[in-house]
Amino acid sequence: MSNDIEIRRLDGLNEQRRAFELFRQAMLGLPDLGKVDPEGEGRYLKDGKPLGAFGPSGLVGVVNGYASQIAVPGGRRVSHLSVTHVGVAPQATRQGIASRLLTEQLRRARAEGYVVAGLRASDSRIYGRYGYGTASWTVRQELDLACARPAPSQGQAKTRFVDIGNFDLFRKIADADPAPRPAQLIRWDAWWAMQRLRLDHASTPHYALVTGPEGAETGFLRFHTEASDNWLISRSRTAIVDDLVAHDAASWQTLIGHLFTQDILHRAIFPASAVDDPLRLLVSDPRSITFSGLRDESWVRPLDVGVLLSARSYREAAVLDIADPVIPENAGVWRIGPEGVRRDQGPAEARLDIGTLAALFFGAQTASLLSQAGKLHAPSPETLERLDALFSTGRLPHSGISF
Ligand SMILES: CC(C)(COP(=O)(O)OP(=O)(O)OC[C@H]1O[C@@H](n2cnc3c(N)ncnc32)[C@H](O)[C@@H]1OP(=O)(O)O)[C@@H](O)C(=O)NCCC(=O)NCCS
Repeated sequence: MSNDIEIRRLDGLNEQRRAFELFRQAMLGLPDLGKVDPEGEGRYLKDGKPLGAFGPSGLVGVVNGYASQIAVPGGRRVSHLSVTHVGVAPQATRQGIASRLLTEQLRRARAEGYVVAGLRASDSRIYGRYGYGTASWTVRQELDLACARPAPSQGQAKTRFVDIGNFDLFRKIADADPAPRPAQLIRWDAWWAMQRLRLDHASTPHYALVTGPEGAETGFLRFHTEASDNWLISRSRTAIVDDLVAHDAASWQTLIGHLFTQDILHRAIFPASAVDDPLRLLVSDPRSITFSGLRDESWVRPLDVGVLLSARSYREAAVLDIADPVIPENAGVWRIGPEGVRRDQGPAEARLDIGTLAALFFGAQTASLLSQAGKLHAPSPETLERLDALFSTGRLPHSGISF
């Protein structure tokens, strides 16, 4: 069936709306925001670059993408196609349509100069086959504010509440992060448009506070309260943290510290923290935090291995043999080292596929663990130890946003 399929770019707002509708139809559980707020939906869709798959009956599959950037270890950023709205009509699944769309999208993105593609997966079994690898993970933290106390040193700086709809300010602060974790994304217009749509149609109150001098803020916290049958007498009044950006340790401590000053609250939930989030170190009683829901976060697909590997520096040299069945220009032996990155004749010290490279490069996994899981092949423990040191990142990768 997939041979009768034509794939082409969808242009103009009408086709974009049609693509989004098909995606929602495939997802089943998503609300139709366009019905209540067509203008908001238009703002959200307008910069997307959807591809459509057409069969004899018309549009049967879609995949969309937005231009953004992702931070690599060391803090530089490279271009990132934020892939989203992957959907195939319910009557047309399991015929290879998503495979055609996703591989076509990768080839086009590489030709357009994107260094990586990245997405959040509704199902973690789908994307590995196209060369996406898990480049960051998240964990859910539930903080018992009634039991926990912040360590005494924190919370010196001031916070101030700001209008929750002041997205220009949040955007300015997020984009100015001077030391982004690996895998942190520059958020694009449509991402902010979706935040506004969600806020405009939210059923519970939302709040935002910032820290740092006015005009030179160094962090913000956005949260909402959990729906409750009777907030007044509830014994589990909960704040759910939607977004937390802090440029430095003091800002982070101040913003978290604010939650402890709200006596009305019993709990705070951080749905998708970095796996090495230091919250457990901030509180005097680490058992006041319940950890759950360890989940894959960033799925990243290197599109241009030479440019990606060159975006950070290396203390030592290593020679890697990379397999990439979809983009042959990436495949083969690469030498990385203090002098830069270049093609090599080999022999390679380690063999891995393109998705595993994403996990290794962003620091989501060490070479030793990847080897133990059979994902990376290296001849000796000494080589693995060297690769562990070479790709180690101070902090684990984390994006902190979904899309
Ligand atoms: C996921 C989805 C896009 C797959 O579309 P599709 O056209 O059926 O996919 P394909 O026929 O190209 O299948 C690709 C491969 O993935 C496998 N696959 C597809 N859906 C899968 C699923 N939900 N779980 C596990 N494997 C799946 C297929 O078996 C096939 O494997 P193979 O290449 O080894 O034969 C489609 O089921 C869909 O629209 N689902 C709902 C929306 C959704 O979840 N989108 C993803 C948002 S991130």
